[in-house]
Amino acid sequence: MDATVMTKPAVLILLGPPGAGKGTQARMLEAGFGLVQLSTGDLLRAAVAQGTDAGKEAETVMKAGGLVSDGIVINILRDRLKQTDCAQGVILDGFPRTTVQAEALDGLLLETGMKINAAISLDVEDVAMVSRIAGRFTCAGCGEGYHDRFKQPKSEGVCDACGGTEMTRRADDNAETVADRLKAYHAQTAPLIAYYENQGALKRVDAMGEIATISATLKNMVHDITQ
Ligand code: AP5
Repeated sequence: MDATVMTKPAVLILLGPPGAGKGTQARMLEAGFGLVQLSTGDLLRAAVAQGTDAGKEAETVMKAGGLVSDGIVINILRDRLKQTDCAQGVILDGFPRTTVQAEALDGLLLETGMKINAAISLDVEDVAMVSRIAGRFTCAGCGEGYHDRFKQPKSEGVCDACGGTEMTRRADDNAETVADRLKAYHAQTAPLIAYYENQGALKRVDAMGEIATISATLKNMVHDITQ
C-alpha cells in the first residue's frame, strides 16, 4: 500500500510484551503513514547515554528489567510530544505501560488537541519472546532493528536502511532480565488492554506470524482507522 494521506493527526498506541515486535512494526508504519514513532525505551536509553539525572535514575531500573518511575517517563514523553514533528501524528511504542501513564496520556493529548485513534495489542506467547530478544541487534547509525534468524540484513553486517556497519545489542537483552521484563508486563501493562477496551479503542493483532504478514495486517488496519 502507498503512503496514506490522513485527514487529521493520528495517535496510535502499540501494546505488547517485550519482543512482541512493537519497534519493528512501528518503524514500518512510520514509513507508510508519515507518523512519528515515539519509543519511551529509546528516549530513556538516550537519557542514559547523555547521563542526565533522569537517565541515571532509569539506568539501574532498566538493567534489572523493572519499570522506570511514572514521573520520569511521563516528563520525557511530554517533552517529546511538544516537538513540532509530532503534530503530524504519532505511534506510541512502549508507552503507556501503567494505568497512571495511560491517564497522564489522556491529559497530555488534551493539551495538544490530539486524540487516540486506537490502541493495538500485538498478541504473542511468552515462549517466543526469549528467542526474539536474544537474537536482536540494531544499527547504531539509524536504529533499524534486525534479528540473527528472523530479520537479517540483506548484506551481512551492513544496515539495509542507512548502509552503516556498526551494530549494537542492548544491555537488557539477556534471558534473566527478559523474565523480569515479562513479569513487569503482565503485572503492570497487560491491564491496559482492558483500559482501552473500555474506551472502545482496542484492536488486537495476532503477532505470532512472520514480520511481513503482521505488517500487512497492521497497515490495512491503520489505513481503515485513520480514514
Ligand atoms: P523498551 O525499549 O520499550 O523494550 P520492551 O518493551 O521490552 O520492548 P522491546 O524493545 O524489547 O521489544 P519490541 O516489542 O519493540 O520488539 P522488537 O520489534 O524490537 O523498554 C526497555 C526498558 O525501558 C523497559 O524494560 C523499562 O525499564 C523502560 N521503559 C520503557 N518504556 C517505559 C515506560 N513507558 N514506563 C516505564 N519504563 C519504561 O522485536 C524484537 C526482536 O524480534 C527483533 O530482533 C525483531 O527483528 C524480531 N521480531 C519482531 N517481530 C518478529 C516476528 N513476528 N517474528 C520473529 N521475529 C520478530
